[in-house]
Amino acid sequence: MLTHQGTQLLRTARLLLRPYTEHDADMMFANWANDEEVCRYLTWPPHGDIEVTRGIVRDWAACYGNDCYYHWGITLAGELIGDIAVVRWSEQNACAALGYCLGCQWWGRGIMTEALTAVTRYLLEQIGFHRIQLEHDRDNPASGRVMQKAGLRYEGCLQGGVRRRDGSFGDVCIYGAVQGQWAPPAESEAV
Ligand SMILES: CC(C)(COP(=O)(O)OP(=O)(O)OC[C@H]1O[C@@H](n2cnc3c(N)ncnc32)[C@H](O)[C@@H]1OP(=O)(O)O)[C@@H](O)C(=O)NCCC(=O)NCCS
Repeated sequence: MLTHQGTQLLRTARLLLRPYTEHDADMMFANWANDEEVCRYLTWPPHGDIEVTRGIVRDWAACYGNDCYYHWGITLAGELIGDIAVVRWSEQNACAALGYCLGCQWWGRGIMTEALTAVTRYLLEQIGFHRIQLEHDRDNPASGRVMQKAGLRYEGCLQGGVRRRDGSFGDVCIYGAVQGQWAPPAESEAV
């Protein structure tokens, strides 16, 4: 049985994960949403125009009245630097799938590992999800490394399981964490 509580504030050693507000579009556009490098393995293209970001952020902000909506902006010292969200979930299976991205400027500092660990803990321990799942393109190993470091286990690969935006196919690596079996990293390991 899930006890939905929506996008609560989550604090980690360095980060505050928080809901978006309509004022976030400028930082989101500047820090990641218009960056081809960040979007390379994502389903959406760089926004190209700040108005696209404004519209999206407005739509997201309007969803927070729904306590089944889990979508955080990742902030570091007040700067909005990335995104982590439940991208699909099943009440029947008590399973949630997550997605994330971070501005290039902040890559390689353990930030997404820290954010993913906090969100996984919240969803398993507070909301009561039985299983958390993440997927990445095999050609994007940094994302798989984040999943490993956050204590998720590699479960297998869907060959040719994703058609990328450029039309080519990629293999999809799947990681999962199951309630009672998830081994979160020690705080120092996540940083
Ligand atoms: C993937 C992403 C979220 C990682 O965030 P991050 O905060 O830089 O991740 P961390 O610093 O916590 O960990 C990254 C790990 O990947 C490793 N790594 C980086 N590039 C790598 C590569 N080409 N091959 C293998 N490992 C790599 C880093 O060394 C680090 O591991 P380590 O701590 O053992 O050295 C970030 O690069 C990003 O937003 N990418 C664009 C969006 C994206 O791809 N999202 C995921 C879609 S599934």
